[in-house]
Amino acid sequence: MQFDTLVQGGTIVTAADTYVSDIGIAEGRIAAIARELPRETARQVFSAQGRMVIPGGIDVHTHLDMPFGGTTSSDDFETGTIAAAFGGTTTLIDFAIQYKGQTLRTAFDAWGKKAEGKAATDYAFHCIVTDLPDARLEEMDALVREGVSSFKLFMAYPGVFMLDDATIFRAMSQAARNGAMICMHAENGGAIDVIVRRALAEGKTAPKYHALTRPTTAEAEATGRAIALAEMAGAPVYIVHLSCNDALEKVREARDRGLPVYAETCPQYLFLSIENFDVPGFEGAKYVFTPPLREKWHQEKLWAGLAKDNLQVVSTDHCPFCYKDQKELGKDDFTKIPNGGPGIEHRLSLVYTGGVHGGRFSPNRFVELVSTTPAKLFGLYPRKGTIAVGSDADLVIWDPTQEETISAKTHHMRVDYSMFEGIQVKGVPRQVFVGGRLVIDNGKFVGKSGAGQFLKRQPHSGL
Ligand code: URP
Ligand code: ZN
Ligand code: ZN
Repeated sequence: MQFDTLVQGGTIVTAADTYVSDIGIAEGRIAAIARELPRETARQVFSAQGRMVIPGGIDVHTHLDMPFGGTTSSDDFETGTIAAAFGGTTTLIDFAIQYKGQTLRTAFDAWGKKAEGKAATDYAFHCIVTDLPDARLEEMDALVREGVSSFKLFMAYPGVFMLDDATIFRAMSQAARNGAMICMHAENGGAIDVIVRRALAEGKTAPKYHALTRPTTAEAEATGRAIALAEMAGAPVYIVHLSCNDALEKVREARDRGLPVYAETCPQYLFLSIENFDVPGFEGAKYVFTPPLREKWHQEKLWAGLAKDNLQVVSTDHCPFCYKDQKELGKDDFTKIPNGGPGIEHRLSLVYTGGVHGGRFSPNRFVELVSTTPAKLFGLYPRKGTIAVGSDADLVIWDPTQEETISAKTHHMRVDYSMFEGIQVKGVPRQVFVGGRLVIDNGKFVGKSGAGQFLKRQPHSGL
């Protein structure tokens, strides 16, 4: 058998197995896995001896080139996917926004144009729905057929993205029929708006008030409501960017009852807390995203949720805005600070450090959280999310012992600060392959912008 590339002698780690083997790659796919494959037949050989080989990371929650909060997120599909690749992420699912009055198809086309010719990793889209009259419901079916098999709905941001319960219920009922996954931003936007207006009237305008006006109860209430609506509609629901124990308890209760309820958290909720706002002047704006940072004790609850499968995925909610000029839009009023933070590059290293080196779960569970379950929940498995003959050769040669300190001085995201500045991680990618193409080689980008493929996803079929 002729291979384009041979990855030799690594410890293959999937969600299910750990074993030493060679991997032969041909035409972008994994063509063979065996203890010893003949190296003479390969055009190039990479030694993975002493290292792990894991399936490429899948980040199912990113916002590249997204107009939001009076500006646009600072990474586009070129800079964002390159930064993702540096961290071992080889596929991402971004959010195409349907603005009020538009067809859903318009959103898909617009985001397709943003990504085409730029993305260095593979990519797919969810569709954010902001407006859903009856006539538009069938457009959901059409989008599912085109591979956009998940929709994000908002219970927050009144006047911008927020939908009422009736619209959410109609969308969920349609998803129950067409196999779409509903991704829910669960916060009670109406109550939060009242609390925010009270704070502003009292002259509370500093960044930390973004967090202090969005209580955990608002997230828990909306999470519970989303689950109840999904149960009535007979649809699965996926709670995005879950940040606190109160909301986690709602997910746990629903899963204990056997409901198809899933949830992700993000590294910022695992590593940062409300204490990050204890910085001089306006610097707290670096931590303004939604849901906000919580008291520190929630972190350990979220880690336990990941270990016990009450949480199934770690995504990033990567939505970068530069401190200078973008975050500064809210200098005098926290409600004008664009919401979002940068994280696409460091997800795998952070989860490996806190999860595996922290003694909270195994390397297999790590792979499941950052790659396999995202692929299964969002219709990409087994093409993505595992190491098996026939799967895309999206591979990461992972050095589990290498230490690095995260810093804006060395990261590759197009943003002038890091949320994780100074945090030391242990476990980094050495080589990263997307569809058999080497894109990262020992800290250098050697891939090609525009080489990433749009992925048509299957409908949701359970875990
Ligand atoms: O603050 C955040 N999370 N910005 C991105 C939009 C969203 O709600 O996911
Ligand atoms: Zn959201
Ligand atoms: Zn988001």
